[in-house]
Amino acid sequence: MKIFVTAEILPQGIEELKNAGHQVEVWNQSHQIPYEQLLQKAKDFDALITMLSDQIDRNFLEVNKHLKVITNYAVGHNNIDSKAATELGIAIGNTPDVLTEATADLALSLLLNVSRQITHAQKQIEAGHWTKWGAMDYLGHSLRGKTLGIFGAGRIGRCFATTCARAFSMNILYCARSPKTDFENELGAKRVEFKELLEQSDVVSVHCDLNDSTKELFNAESFSLMKPSSIFINTARGGVHNESDLISALSNSKIWGAGLDVTNPEPMSANSPLLTIPTVAVSPHIGSATITARNAMSSIVAQNILKAFEQKELIGDVNKLYS
Ligand code: DGY
Repeated sequence: MKIFVTAEILPQGIEELKNAGHQVEVWNQSHQIPYEQLLQKAKDFDALITMLSDQIDRNFLEVNKHLKVITNYAVGHNNIDSKAATELGIAIGNTPDVLTEATADLALSLLLNVSRQITHAQKQIEAGHWTKWGAMDYLGHSLRGKTLGIFGAGRIGRCFATTCARAFSMNILYCARSPKTDFENELGAKRVEFKELLEQSDVVSVHCDLNDSTKELFNAESFSLMKPSSIFINTARGGVHNESDLISALSNSKIWGAGLDVTNPEPMSANSPLLTIPTVAVSPHIGSATITARNAMSSIVAQNILKAFEQKELIGDVNKLYS
């Protein structure tokens, strides 16, 4: 079988596919493969390994309904119309579990960074402004004993909450479609309505999927309900927040700070006003970017493809959400 990979990935999975006797071609240009080019290219392949930045919509799938499987090199799969794929009989895979800790750890990195203004402080050194020690400079917020509100209590949200509860004795609130009894018993986490989460949390962290119900849910109205001292963290999908509303909320002191691994749109413009706000830290969607996580993801996408070829259940089986 022929497999096309839309970007260079760590080689473990590619070796696994080759060892199983399949042909693998990798897009090795420095720019992302354009939509139209991928749509044409896919006609010659049996399976694709796609990145979260590739748009795989209904049109793409209808043109390429011969594909046996498409597996995203990510846990999120909002870039793929999986409902259409399921209707067309194309298997869709993702990479759950193996990037949970990496992404939760990045949320913590952003939170610590923002709460102590580390990125801003470094920029000040680089600009030559560290001329004396300042007793009033870079005052931040302690996390100890504060309240963390998790929006979306899936694997990553719960992992992040567990670390924050254990490391900083934070109280945990969460919003989720259904109660998570284990999570509540383990951490004393309390399930609340969205409004209560916003009003009571010192830190609000997003860990949900991007879908019609979460699109730009964090907007002017939501930010206005948060505490003026609060920090907003998003390591899920940029589309869950309205970025101009976030800029206004920060500029008008509706909230204190923000840590973003995902932006709306992506990539973020180098001219974004967010990059000039001292209490903001931004990373370029690197939640899963540890060697451990990316090696495991490489192996899982290969296994997803091998399983699909054998008509077995994928490790990350996205179709089951739509069948
Ligand atoms: C994913 O894999 O969907 C995440 O965005 C990791 O950062």
